Amino acid sequence: MASEPVNVKEFQELAKNVLPKMYYDFYTGGAEDQYTLKQNVEAFQRITIRPRILLDVSRIDMSTTVLGYKISAPIMVAPTGMHQFAHPEGEVATARAAAACNTIMVLSYSSNCSVEEVASSCNAVRFFQLYVFKRRDISAQIVQRAEKSGFKAIVLTVDTPRLGRREADIKNKMVVPRLKNFEGLSSIAVDSNGGSALESYANETLDSSLRWEDIGWLRSITSLPILIKGVLTHEDARMAVEAGVSGIVVSNHGARQLDYTPATISVLEEVVHAVEGKVPVLFDGGVRRGTDVFKALALGAQAILVGRPVIYGLAAKGEYGVRRVLEMLKYELELTMALSGCPQLQDITRDHVRTEHERLR
Ligand code: FNR
Repeated sequence: MASEPVNVKEFQELAKNVLPKMYYDFYTGGAEDQYTLKQNVEAFQRITIRPRILLDVSRIDMSTTVLGYKISAPIMVAPTGMHQFAHPEGEVATARAAAACNTIMVLSYSSNCSVEEVASSCNAVRFFQLYVFKRRDISAQIVQRAEKSGFKAIVLTVDTPRLGRREADIKNKMVVPRLKNFEGLSSIAVDSNGGSALESYANETLDSSLRWEDIGWLRSITSLPILIKGVLTHEDARMAVEAGVSGIVVSNHGARQLDYTPATISVLEEVVHAVEGKVPVLFDGGVRRGTDVFKALALGAQAILVGRPVIYGLAAKGEYGVRRVLEMLKYELELTMALSGCPQLQDITRDHVRTEHERLR
């Protein structure tokens, strides 16, 4: 492909051409049969848009706020680990691109670059994603470093008591990279049993005993607002609100954890209803087009996050590539709003989409 990519899919093709197979498989893959991986994308294709006509769409405003921070469009960067497999500048390049697009990046706990390096690379609003380690002192120390470096919220990922079974990583004997945040803090001997060293490392370190009560522990070590990432049911959405979180991210971890969970877009509304507007509901999983963003907003998301598309941009063209991916999605959302009669985000309503189930009625 000689010309500039015009959509996320073409960025993915470029990424495939430049990345070693081990890394490409790591970024694109899902758990086990990859049923959910396919569903995350395909479920969007089963939702259609009901455009309204003859409304003034000469000016489109996509700006919104998340936890009070203004962003140019409801498209944020999801936490994804190990950006230096995609590009030598790693998360620093991603953060700069997010800043240039005036949006929020959620930095992964498993980043190659340290929280301090990312913080000093640009002064955009950043959130920090947390896994809780068995060694709580290590997790606490990194949370406090993130807070000190100016990160504005903690996104606690709760769908990973153990790592999902990613068979491509097992076959490729996926390696554990250098994770700068942990340097000098932990040294874990990994016995990969001839499979994925990453899986063994994660299972050695992650605290699988984490419970609702531990949100109190997290609150005791940071004054930052806490969002909870990995909610898929109305029961857990209610419990999260009761636990006093500041926001919820509907996510199945990009289908990398439990296979045969539903596509996230098909459970978004269930969560939104349960939350009753008490806290913002963010969304990720399978967003590849501006129309997907529009559909998620119509079903009640405050904003969406993109995971793999950002990595494809980074692998293909570094910081510029991430910027292009975010700009393309923004442009596509703006166009979708114009073509469906919604000059502002508040104009996007439930009536603007029809799910497969509704079409059959
Ligand atoms: C992830 N995701 C993830 N989530 C998290 O909370 N912490 C992490 O370190 C990672 N790491 C990670 C690595 C890679 C390569 C991928 C693809 C994903 C999940 C991520 O935040 C998000 O939920 C999904 O990526 C969203 O789905 P899409 O946009 O990739 O379809």
